[in-house]
Amino acid sequence: MRYRLLLFLQMINLISSGVLPPRKRFPDAIIVGVKKSGTRALLEFLRINPLIKAPGPEVHFFDKNFNKGLEWYREQMPETRIGEVTIEKSPAYFHSKMAPERIKSLNPNTKIIIVVRDPVTRAISDYTQSSSKRKRVGLMPSFETMAVGDCANWLRANCTTKTRGVNAGWGAIRIGVYHKHMKRWLDHFPSQNIHIVDGEKLISNPADEISATEKFLGLSPVAKPENFGVDPIKKFPCLKNDDGKLHCLGKTKGRHHPDVEPSVMRALKEFYGPENKKFYQLVNHWFDW
Ligand code: A3P
Repeated sequence: MRYRLLLFLQMINLISSGVLPPRKRFPDAIIVGVKKSGTRALLEFLRINPLIKAPGPEVHFFDKNFNKGLEWYREQMPETRIGEVTIEKSPAYFHSKMAPERIKSLNPNTKIIIVVRDPVTRAISDYTQSSSKRKRVGLMPSFETMAVGDCANWLRANCTTKTRGVNAGWGAIRIGVYHKHMKRWLDHFPSQNIHIVDGEKLISNPADEISATEKFLGLSPVAKPENFGVDPIKKFPCLKNDDGKLHCLGKTKGRHHPDVEPSVMRALKEFYGPENKKFYQLVNHWFDW
């Protein structure tokens, strides 16, 4: 009996002194999307906080790799000690039909983080990424053709008066109808477990958005304005090292976007207007897109 008590006290001592060996744990929080809204910047900037740990690549467990099993998933995580927070980021979870239910069944207390930005900019960013990948197999049709042009022929079913002639079936457009996807997350998680990051503010004022996310994670905020500088060429925020050197995201982030015809921009704005309002009401947060 005495021996057990001693062992117990020793364990408490080890836990409180942080000496227990680190181990891989399922994530406490997941950045579930939205793709092309600044999810990589958010994760890289959160790493300023030494208590936040994340796997390097996107894991895609709850959408593409679910058949690999939970032990595989845990194996992808970094080793952490008690008090540290494990975060995973896989932005395709946001629009995955299965991800919310699967995450909830693993841990209903998982904290969900969602970065959103103007869905028109997001669609152009999504297109820019796809077309840069497609360069190897031949050029993609222009953004305008994909967004409205093909409505005249083979994509007619996706383009109705309700969609203002916009091809709402195209993935780059569909993902930006945020309220439809958001509803699934709210059906599975209480709103206090969901944190929305404003992707535009993450660019204009990263310290504020990062501090708010640290608080949501139950941590004392570490991020300060002096941790950031601005990339002189791309004009996006970068991390500033102690020696003043900037550490910016790689060349696949902050790409040059094509100029889109004003009439197409107008059609997209009109299409998204009512959809955005439904999203604002759902999350009880007004954005100015
Ligand atoms: P573009 O490369 O099209 O400009 P994600 O990481 O979710 O894929 O989002 C990528 C987008 O994040 C980029 O799209 C860019 O607009 C935006 N972004 C936000 N903060 C950024 C930063 N600090 N550096 C580079 N891109 C950033």
